[in-house]
Amino acid sequence: MLVALLPGDGIGPEIIAQTMRVLDAAGVTGLEFEEAPVGGAAYKQLGHPLPESTLALAKRADAILFGAVGDPDCDSLERHLRPEQAILGLRKHLGLFANLRPAKLFPELADASALRPEVAKAIDLVIVRETNGDVYFGEKGHRTTPEGLRQGYDVMAYNEAEIARIAKVGFETARARRGKLCSVDKANVLETSQLWRDVVIEVSADYQDVELSHMYVDNAAMQLVRNPGQFDVIVTGNLFGDILSDQASMCAGSIGMLPSATLDGSNKGLYEPIHGSAPDIAGQGKANPLATILSAAMMLRYSFDRSAEADRLEAAVAKALANGARSADLGGSMSTQEMGDAVVAALA
Ligand code: IPM
Ligand code: MG
Repeated sequence: MLVALLPGDGIGPEIIAQTMRVLDAAGVTGLEFEEAPVGGAAYKQLGHPLPESTLALAKRADAILFGAVGDPDCDSLERHLRPEQAILGLRKHLGLFANLRPAKLFPELADASALRPEVAKAIDLVIVRETNGDVYFGEKGHRTTPEGLRQGYDVMAYNEAEIARIAKVGFETARARRGKLCSVDKANVLETSQLWRDVVIEVSADYQDVELSHMYVDNAAMQLVRNPGQFDVIVTGNLFGDILSDQASMCAGSIGMLPSATLDGSNKGLYEPIHGSAPDIAGQGKANPLATILSAAMMLRYSFDRSAEADRLEAAVAKALANGARSADLGGSMSTQEMGDAVVAALA
């Protein structure tokens, strides 16, 4: 089994290094890791954020373990050369359309949540975010209006097949959990969302056992902080899912805690923390590696069907937190390496 290891930019290499240590300490064997540059690092080395060689490795691999991309040095490059295009390109070229972002509060972190502990405690949800369509991949550009004004545009579009396949992932995910699916859209304003809602309702005919509800995205943002415990699975489009998953992460303690899996409908997946490259703290050993370690656990579970090992990693993270492991984002002062040490110790 081959894993493409793509550390990327900023804190990416530091959090990946700790994750590899933890996998090693956990005695995970039988996986071959092959590393390649991605993002700004790849641009600097090879002139492109997603070089052919990296894309070829990702295609060949059974799973991809990804750090983060984003580099302020690259902010003035043309868009197609910016680091972010690497993750978008991987999602698109590999057909990785279903991004699962679980948000669950580790009880030890109730005080780190931006919410009151009694509200935060109830969070246990999964955001199923579509990642192959929407404004991210629609026609986009700059033009001049008839009045001579500069105008930027990004077309929002989903076809019914794209909506149906992500809706199915939403229903299946809900069926394997508490059986509740909330579809988030903006059908009161957007035609894309009206079709989204119609298709989700059509697909629901095959999932009579799942309780389906619909919510406008503005209300969903409000409900996530008011009463996050009401959600089991949220299914939504690319842009709304991007925003709501960052929000959910702060409700669950810290953006440094949330892992994700992006699946293509088979066992293949890309696994990454939902946070970015955090250039402000890169190279300082301050980053929290736990979201990446939890992403590796998701990899073991979804791509390799090794749920016992995944459970062990997740239990070790919980134990490390219970033992007081806290990086800066969690209100503590432990370094990236010390957080890794704490998880390794918890495995023993
Ligand atoms: C995420 C990130 C990416 C996105 C960026 C880096 C392109 O914010 O994975 O949530 O917008 O999808
Ligand atoms: Mg995001």
